[in-house]
Amino acid sequence: MDVECSELSEGACEMSIRYKVADQFEIPEGTGQEFVVADKVIAIFHVDGDYYAMDGLCPHAGGPIGTGHLRGCIVTCPWHGWQFDVTTGESKLSRVIKSATFPLVRDAEGWWLELPDKSGASS
Ligand code: FES
Repeated sequence: MDVECSELSEGACEMSIRYKVADQFEIPEGTGQEFVVADKVIAIFHVDGDYYAMDGLCPHAGGPIGTGHLRGCIVTCPWHGWQFDVTTGESKLSRVIKSATFPLVRDAEGWWLELPDKSGASS
């Protein structure tokens, strides 16, 4: 786990914590997979050679979005059919509805996910 600070705007800084997800992904192209990272369900999708991470719980009623059908960059929640762009988290129903997305970073040690630090601790 690494702690990072990213600039949001002038003077603002949001702390994030970097968690290792995997040495390498074995997610077939055009599918998604669920991971539990820091007690949070994360859905990671493989689209056109890139990987995208979003909240694994559907904002409608908590459905397992990572097990939904993926067509292009659009995933369909298996519970009630809401659709989301996995690259942005935006709902196809309304721009007001959005699922959280998270940066995925790859280095020599593997794949890392950056989650906001909710501990309230500052350094
Ligand atoms: S829980 Fe996902 S559409 Fe209802």
